[in-house]
Order: sequence, then structure tokens, then C-alpha cells
Amino acid sequence: MGAALGAGLAGYRILCPMGVLKRIHRTVVKPSVEAVLRAVALRVVERAKVDPRITYPCYKSFDEFIDVERLKSLDGYIKEGIARHVRAEKDQPFNTGALTLRLFSPKKPGSRVIHLTQSKRPFRYQDLDKPDLWQRTKEADEFSRLMDFVSTFPFKRTARIMILYDDSGKPVTPHRDHISVNVCHEFIWFRTNLEKPFYMLNHRTNEKRYVESYSAWFDSVNQFHGSEARDGLSFSLRVDGLFSDEFRARIPTPAYNLASSSALWACTSGASAKPRS
Ligand SMILES: [Fe+2]
Repeated sequence: MGAALGAGLAGYRILCPMGVLKRIHRTVVKPSVEAVLRAVALRVVERAKVDPRITYPCYKSFDEFIDVERLKSLDGYIKEGIARHVRAEKDQPFNTGALTLRLFSPKKPGSRVIHLTQSKRPFRYQDLDKPDLWQRTKEADEFSRLMDFVSTFPFKRTARIMILYDDSGKPVTPHRDHISVNVCHEFIWFRTNLEKPFYMLNHRTNEKRYVESYSAWFDSVNQFHGSEARDGLSFSLRVDGLFSDEFRARIPTPAYNLASSSALWACTSGASAKPRS
């Protein structure tokens, strides 16, 4: 028994420091490394040049390119589908990623995601413009009318398609999606009603611009975006993919900072150019 006790104590002496080290790694080292990486990443993107014609915050409305009346007609249908998901409580929480406006703001603020397509390999943000990797989920069959509508959008191929909803009344933490200023993700953000208080934010001037349209393409790199808290259910949808060649031909290409393509288009195309006062 003494030998057994000795062996047990010896084991304890070995396990205890490992446990402490793991805890230190989890609570001190990992967050510190992430904070440094985040600071470096934000510094890189903030120093990136953008076309002088661009003024943030801004977004490009896509209402002129999609059938808004058909979109609005899907409102009750999508709300019913989301209500089923709220009851089931199985959807993944939405994660803003590390590039939040404030270091300690919630990365999982309360919204949830219904994935209508999923990647064939573990999710990487860089895969949003690789349609070959994406396939429909069984949830897409629940929202077949929505999927039919998405097929009318000006994409030649689609990749990630998702519904982002919140019934907790929490805000979506302002964040950037990534920091690759030379990567332009082609996507359409849209909604069937105007209830979600979704905004773009220029953190230098603290100016917010609320999206007033049913659909938009926006610069998710050189400015922040987020949503205010709101009672009741609010939701939006996003489709990523590759715009059709015909549609892409209409879009001005910046000489540098490709991620700002939507911003350049917004700021050089009239109605979307001026921030709301
Ligand atoms: Fe985002």
C-alpha cells in the first residue's frame, strides 16, 4: 500500500506542474499571444493605402441588382424556418473572429448561424471564394425557396451561404472580417425586412452608417461592421461566391487594396456615396 501511495504521489508530482503549466498557457500565454497578433494585424490593415475617392463608412446597395419585391415576399417563410431552429437550439454560435473593435469585446455575442452550404474541409475564411469546396447542407432543403431566389443573384458560382439570426436581443460586436487587403471577397449581404440595425463604422471618426437597403456589398476589411441590440428576432443572410463576368465588368477595380473594391464602387456611384448625417 505504501508503494502504491508512493507511486500515486510521484504521479501527482508529475501531473500537478503539467496542469499548472496548461492553465498558465490557456489563461496567460495564449491570450497574450493572440492580443499581440491582433494588434499587429490591425496595424497592418490600418496602414494600408486606399483610393483617395473612398470615404468610410460606406456600402454599396445591391437593391438595383436583385428582385427586392421577391426578397421581401420571403420574409414570413424565413422567419418560420428560423423559429424552428430557435426551438431546436442546435445552431452554432456566430463568431466574429479576433478582429473586434475592442480587444475584450465578445467574439460570440449571441447570434447563431444556419449554414445552407458547408465546406468539404475544416472551415477557413480564405475558402469563401472557392466554390468547388462548398456543398449544400440538409438545412438548404428547409429553405428551398430562399435557395431558388439566391440562384437569381449575379454570381457565376456560389460558395458559403448562411443565415445569421439573433433572438437574444444582443448587439453584434463591431469587427473586421479579415486583414488581407489584396483579397476581394465577392458577396451579397441581404435581408427580407429592415429590422436589423446593421452598420458600417469608421473607428477613426467614430462615424456609423446604418445600412438602409435590403442588400449590400461592403468593405469588410478597411472598416468595421456590426449591429445594434434589438428586441425580438433579427436576421440577415450572406452569400459568398464569384460574381459573373458580366457583372464584374461593371465594378471599378482599385489600383491597390483590392479589399476596398466595394467601397470604391460605393463612393463613385452616386446615391451610396455620402454617409448619412
Ligand atoms: Fe463580419
